[in-house]
Amino acid sequence: MQLDFQNITLSEAALKSSQEARKLLESRSGSGREFLGWLSLPEEEAGRVQQYLNIAADLQKLEAVIMVGIGGSYLGFKCLYEALKPAVGQPHGPEILFAGHSLDGDYHRQLLEYLEGREFGVVVISKSGTTTEPAIAFRLLWSLLEKKHGAAEAARRVCAITDKSKGTLRQSADNLGFHSAVIADDVGGRFSVLSPVGLIPAAVAGIDIYSLLQGAMEMSDRLRGKDGPENPAIQYSAYRNGLYEEGKKIEILVYYQHALQYLAEWWKQLYGESEGKDGKGIFPASAGFTTDLHSLGQWIQDAERSIFQTILDVEQAVSPQIQKQDNDGDGLNFLAGRSVHDVNRVALEATRKAHGEGGVPSLRISIPAIDEFNLGSLFYFFEYACGVSAYSLGVNPFDQPGVEAYKKSMFRMLGKPGYEI
Ligand code: PA5
Repeated sequence: MQLDFQNITLSEAALKSSQEARKLLESRSGSGREFLGWLSLPEEEAGRVQQYLNIAADLQKLEAVIMVGIGGSYLGFKCLYEALKPAVGQPHGPEILFAGHSLDGDYHRQLLEYLEGREFGVVVISKSGTTTEPAIAFRLLWSLLEKKHGAAEAARRVCAITDKSKGTLRQSADNLGFHSAVIADDVGGRFSVLSPVGLIPAAVAGIDIYSLLQGAMEMSDRLRGKDGPENPAIQYSAYRNGLYEEGKKIEILVYYQHALQYLAEWWKQLYGESEGKDGKGIFPASAGFTTDLHSLGQWIQDAERSIFQTILDVEQAVSPQIQKQDNDGDGLNFLAGRSVHDVNRVALEATRKAHGEGGVPSLRISIPAIDEFNLGSLFYFFEYACGVSAYSLGVNPFDQPGVEAYKKSMFRMLGKPGYEI
C-alpha cells in the first residue's frame, strides 16, 4: 500500500499533532484506551484460524448461510465478500445471504420464503447480544430452523459470535448449544473485522483468512512504533486534519472498482462513528467512479469547495483488451490494444487532474491488487490511522454516544420495558 497526494501542502501543525496522537494511541494513554484490543488482533487471531475453519466446515455443507448483524457486526465481512466474490454468477460454496442489517419487512419476508425450501444455517453476530435489528432477524430465522429440524439439529446449524458472558445471545448460545466464538471486551464493533466477527463468516465464504491476517500483520509491522513523518498513518491523519482545518469538511472515498463499494461503506462507519462527535469531525462520503462521475461529477468539480477526495487505486486487474475493428464504426480504434483496466486508470489520473484544477485536493492510496492480503493490510491501515486521526482531532475514537439517541427514542415508542417516559 502506498499513499501519495496532490494539491495539498502538509501543515506542520497537523503533522506534529498526528505524531503526538500516534504516541497517545501506542502508549494506551488516550481516552477509550480500554478498547485497543484490535491493535494486536492479527497476530492473536492467526492462532485461531483452524478453530474458525472447523466451524466454517460444518456450515459449508449447507445450501445457504445467513450472516446476521448490523454496523460493525456486518460491514467488515460484507466488504470482504463483495470485494472477493466473482462480480457475476454464483460463487462456489453455500449461498451467502444477509439479515438483521435493517428493519426492512419486505426483505425479511422474502428471505424467509426463500429459505423455507432450503437447507440453511445462520451466523449471528452481536457484541452486545441485544441489538434490535439482528435480534429480530435471528428470532425469525431461529423459529424457521427450529420448525424445520427441531431445536437440537437447528442448534448445529447456528454459530453465535458475541460477548463471552453478557447479553441474551450468549445465553441462547450456551443454553441451546450453538457453535460460538467470543468478541473480546477490548474490541469495539467497527474495529472488529479482523476478529471472529469478520473471520468466521469469511471462512464460511471460502475466503483465505490466513492471508487476510498476514496482510494486516505486515501493515502492523509497518506502522507500530514508527514515529517518523513517513509513517503512512501519520501522513493520512495529518493531511486530512490539515484539510479539515482549512474548511474541507467532507472527505469522499473514491473507488474505481465495483468490488470496493463496501470497503467504502466499512470506512464510512469507521471514520464517521469514531470522529463525528463533540461538534467535530469530517463527514465521510463515498463515490464509485467512473459511474458516479455521471451523477456526482458536476457537484464535485464545481459546487461549494468543502470537499477533498481520497482515491483507492488498484494497480493490477485481469481485464479484457479493446480490439481493433476494420470499420471503426464507434470511433474507438484509438484505444485498440489497451485494456479496460488501463483505460480506468487513465480515467483516474485525468479525473484527479480535473478535480485538482477545480479546487479538490486528492490523496491516493494504491494497492497492487484486490485480494485477501491487500484487504487485510488496508483494514489495519485505516483502523490505525483512524485512531491517530481521531486523537489528533481531540475526540475519543472508541465510543459512539450519538448512536444511543435513536435507540432510546425508538424503544420508548415501541414500549420496551425500562424506556417509559
Ligand atoms: O461500531 C459499533 O460499535 C456499532 O456499529 C455496532 O457494531 C453495531 O451497533 C452492532 O452492535 P452489536 O454488535 O452489539 O450488535
